[in-house]
Amino acid sequence: MTTPVNDPQAKTPVWEARADLVVIGSGVAGLTAALRAQALGLHVLVVTKAAVADGNTRWAQGGVAVVLENEHDLDDSVAKHAEDTLTAGAGLCDEAAVRSIVDGGPAAVARLRADGAKFDVAASGVLALGREGGHSAFRVIHAGGDATGAEVERALVAQAGQTGVPVLEHHIAVDALLTPGGRVAGVTVLDRHGVPGAVRASAVLVASGGLGQLYQATSNPEIATGDGLALALRAGAAVADVEFVQFHPTVLYTPGARGRCPLVTEAVRGEGATLVDGVGLPVMRGVHPLGDLAPRDVVSAAITRRMATAPGGVGDHVFLDATSVAGFARRFPTVFAACAALGLDPAVDPIPVTPAAHFSCGGVVTTVDGRSSVPGLYAAGEVARTGLHGANRLASNSLLEGLVVGQRVAEAVAADLAAGLLADPARGRLPSRTTAPAAERDSLQRVMSRYAAIGRDADGLAAAGSVLDLSLSDTPLWTHAGVEDAALTVVAQALLAAAVRRTESRGCHVRSDFPGPDEGWRRSQLIRLSPSGQPVLADPIPLEGAA
Ligand code: SIN
Repeated sequence: MTTPVNDPQAKTPVWEARADLVVIGSGVAGLTAALRAQALGLHVLVVTKAAVADGNTRWAQGGVAVVLENEHDLDDSVAKHAEDTLTAGAGLCDEAAVRSIVDGGPAAVARLRADGAKFDVAASGVLALGREGGHSAFRVIHAGGDATGAEVERALVAQAGQTGVPVLEHHIAVDALLTPGGRVAGVTVLDRHGVPGAVRASAVLVASGGLGQLYQATSNPEIATGDGLALALRAGAAVADVEFVQFHPTVLYTPGARGRCPLVTEAVRGEGATLVDGVGLPVMRGVHPLGDLAPRDVVSAAITRRMATAPGGVGDHVFLDATSVAGFARRFPTVFAACAALGLDPAVDPIPVTPAAHFSCGGVVTTVDGRSSVPGLYAAGEVARTGLHGANRLASNSLLEGLVVGQRVAEAVAADLAAGLLADPARGRLPSRTTAPAAERDSLQRVMSRYAAIGRDADGLAAAGSVLDLSLSDTPLWTHAGVEDAALTVVAQALLAAAVRRTESRGCHVRSDFPGPDEGWRRSQLIRLSPSGQPVLADPIPLEGAA
C-alpha cells in the first residue's frame, strides 16, 4: 500500500509503502527469496533499478554447478564439488559454508526445475553436463546451450508473475532506514525521474548483484555499480574479501572495448578449445596441471602475463581456438552470435579474447542463510560474502549460491520476524543525507582498470587512491547516476584499502610486488564505514573455518 507524503521540495519521500520484506534486486537470489517469502506468507516487495528481467543473472552463460542424485558423472560426488570449490578459493573459503551451500544445490535445482526451468538434455536423454575451469568433472548443467542465466531468470520471472510477487521496476534503493537502536527498517528509493519514496519493512534483503562497472571493460551489465554493497556499508554492515575481483579470462575482444563485453563462456574450453597467443603458442602449457581448465584466476593471470611478454604477442588480447569444437553454433548459440556480429566463424577463425572484470568474490559478510551483522539487513547472491568463494570463485557456483541462499534467506527472515527479532518499521528514521562524495565515473574506471585490475602494486594502488581523492565532489543523491557514482566511489575506496594492505598474491588478488601467497595472510579483512563515511579496515581476523 502506498501513502502520499506532502513534500513540495521532493527531496524527502513523496510516498511510503509497507512490506514485511523488501528485496533489492531481481536476479536469481532476489527472486528466489521473494518467491519463498511470499509462499511463507510474508508481504514482499521487490525493488529493481531496471526492468525485472534485466539483472546480471540473464547474462550468465555457463550454467549451474551441481551434482544431482542419479544424474551425475560416475565418479563425481558432492564432496568432490566442495573440494574443487575449496581449491579454487585459494585458501580463503569458509569450509563449513562451502559444504553447506554445495550440499544444498541438488534440492535447490530440483525446486527450480519444478518451477519450470528447463535444462539441456543429452542425446541419451539424461541431463547434459558441461565442464569449466577448476572443475574436476563434468557437472555444470546448462540451458539453451550457453543461455543458462536467461532460462533461470525466465523461469523465476514467470513464477513471480504467476504468483503475483509485486515488483517496483526502475527504482534504485538509496539508503536504509535505521531505528535509533541501529536495526534496519526499510529503504528509501528513487524512481527514474528522481522522485523519492520510502518502503518501510522489518527486513531488507540486498540482492543487487555486483560491481563490474568499477572497471572500463566488464562482462557485467551497466547496472552493476555496487549500490547494494554501498547501502549495506552505510547501514553499518561489515564487508570482506572485496579485494578479490574475479576477471573472466575470455570476453570477446574488440579494440578499445568499454562497458559490457560479450562473454565467451569457459564451457567452450570445457569442450576442448585452447588459448593461444598471437603466434599460435599455447598460453596454458606448463602453467597448471588442469591446463586450459585451470581455475579462472590462474588462467586470467596467465593471459595477462602472455599479453605483456610474449614475443610477437598482440598486447591486449590472445585467441581462443575453438575450431575443434563440433557443432559450435548449436552448443554455444550466444557466443556464436556475438562472433558472427564481428564477422567471425568460430569453426574456422580463432576468437580474439581478453580478460575483463566479471565477479566480486567478496561482499556483505553473511551467514549461509543471508543474515548480515546488522539486524534486519540480509544479503544474498553476488553482493554477499558467505565464504563460498574465498579468493576466487569456482565457475558456475554463483547461480548455485543464489538459488540456495535465496531460499534460505526467506526462511531466515520469516524465523526472525516470528521470533520478534526485527524492528517495527514505523520506528525507522529517514536518512538525512542528500549528497555524498563521488568521483567522476570515467576517471574512476580508468584508474581502477589501470591500477587495481590483474597485477597490482603499492605505487599503483596509492596512485589510484590519490586520483580518486582528488576527483571527489559532493554529488546530489537525486538521480540514479548520482547514487551509482557515490556507490562506485565508496566501493572503490574499500577495495583499494583492502588491496593495499594485502601484501601477497592470492586468488584474484595479484600483486606484482608480492608475487606469492603468504600463509600469514590466509585470512579475510573486514571493512566498515567510519562515522565520516570512510571505509576502514578492522584488524585482519582469521575467519572461522578458513580453508
Ligand atoms: C562462464 O560461462 O564462463 C561464466 C560462468 C560463471 O561465471 O560462473
